[in-house]
Amino acid sequence: MRVSPLALLALLPLASGFSLPPPSFRAAPPTALGAAPPSEATAVPRNPNFAKLAGGYLFPEIGRRRARFLEENPGADIISLGIGDTTQPIPENILKGLVEGAQALGAKETYTGYGAEQGKAPLREKIAEVLYNGLIDPSEVFVSDGAKCDIMRLQQMFGPGVTSAVQDPSYPVYVDTSVMLGQTGELNEETGQYENIVYMPCTLENNFFPDLASLPRADVVYFCSPNNPTGVAATTAQLTELVSICKERGSILVFDAAYAPFIRSPDTPKSIYEIPGADEVAIEVNSFSKYAGFTGVRLGWTVVPNKLKFQDGTLVRNDFNRVMTTCFNGASNIVQAGGMACLSPEGMGEITKLIDYYLENAGILRETMLGLGYEVVGGTDAPYIFVGLGKDSSSWDTFSEILENTSVVTIPGAGFGPGGEGFLRLSAFAPREAVVEACERIKVWKGKQ
Ligand SMILES: Cc1ncc(COP(=O)(O)O)c(C=O)c1O
Repeated sequence: MRVSPLALLALLPLASGFSLPPPSFRAAPPTALGAAPPSEATAVPRNPNFAKLAGGYLFPEIGRRRARFLEENPGADIISLGIGDTTQPIPENILKGLVEGAQALGAKETYTGYGAEQGKAPLREKIAEVLYNGLIDPSEVFVSDGAKCDIMRLQQMFGPGVTSAVQDPSYPVYVDTSVMLGQTGELNEETGQYENIVYMPCTLENNFFPDLASLPRADVVYFCSPNNPTGVAATTAQLTELVSICKERGSILVFDAAYAPFIRSPDTPKSIYEIPGADEVAIEVNSFSKYAGFTGVRLGWTVVPNKLKFQDGTLVRNDFNRVMTTCFNGASNIVQAGGMACLSPEGMGEITKLIDYYLENAGILRETMLGLGYEVVGGTDAPYIFVGLGKDSSSWDTFSEILENTSVVTIPGAGFGPGGEGFLRLSAFAPREAVVEACERIKVWKGKQ
């Protein structure tokens, strides 16, 4: 027998003292304004942009497949080289900053409530000084609860009327937020691409840097370096070309530098503002998530230069400030104290050590896959390695095959856009023992083929 939620609610008073309002307030009766909605639905129309979104966000889908595998293989010893989530504890000095931030809330003299929506002034100053060597001004830094949220806030600022360009493959948030905002048409099931998005192919043939001049203009160009998922970091010459073409075409570049601290190669900029003139075209989003194991702590920032203007001459910074002051109430004061600790000399030393650890993991994964004869990119300036599976290999099929044979979770490249087909992304964020064990299992599986 089906019991309606309303009937279940009616039982609540017995258990909790909660009482239902009189029947006339419980549900809107059918009125002359429109037909009654189907049973158990409201009369609110769904935002049609959400209906355009393909199959759900990538990572929940991986989670569902992993859960199904575990259901069918209870007790399987799963190793995740999948989602890019950190696993190592927050280092001592940085943790101390977080603890002190929390403790300050427990005394009358040091208690603080709401802070500035743009972040605390000392943290904005430290970010400009320590991470940008003074290339930017503290007034251009907006401290936030993370880069992913900032990407959506930038999209809210740009609105539905712009066209966006993304690397293909790319971190799925740029495309999905463009769809949600109504910037795109429908998904073309055949190509796997949305209408009205410019896809910038990044392939083995072009060393994962798009042939910009051959591509149509877009208003907003999303570019991530070091890249998720490919692990490839763009050189000074490549970023100079990117800035120059954005300037020529009057586009705004949104540069995602969330993996900047992994860069070890020379001639590889950690910030777009290392490129002369970038402050006239580029916004940079960034995050403490991968710097210091803050994926669950939540702290990021976005730089919107004072020189950057819209077509009508108004400052982009002012509109972003309006979004932040309207939709955001400032990053947690506890967490901002943690951010200050990250940027102390001790904290920066701890970050380098932490990232060295993940880069060693990346080296182990890279060498293993190269040793097995795969084509591999990334893993030297990024925590991701991108493994070419050879012509005609489906990345979802290989993902399933590896999961079923080795209990190792990877990420199919196709989940990052059609250009990722034929690749697997491996994440170096797992603990060392897990990375070594996963490599052994993959070698055994490959040896049997
Ligand atoms: C390229 C890229 N940008 C942004 C983010 C999100 O960062 P945050 O944790 O600050 O929201 C991620 C997270 O994996 C990412 O890969």
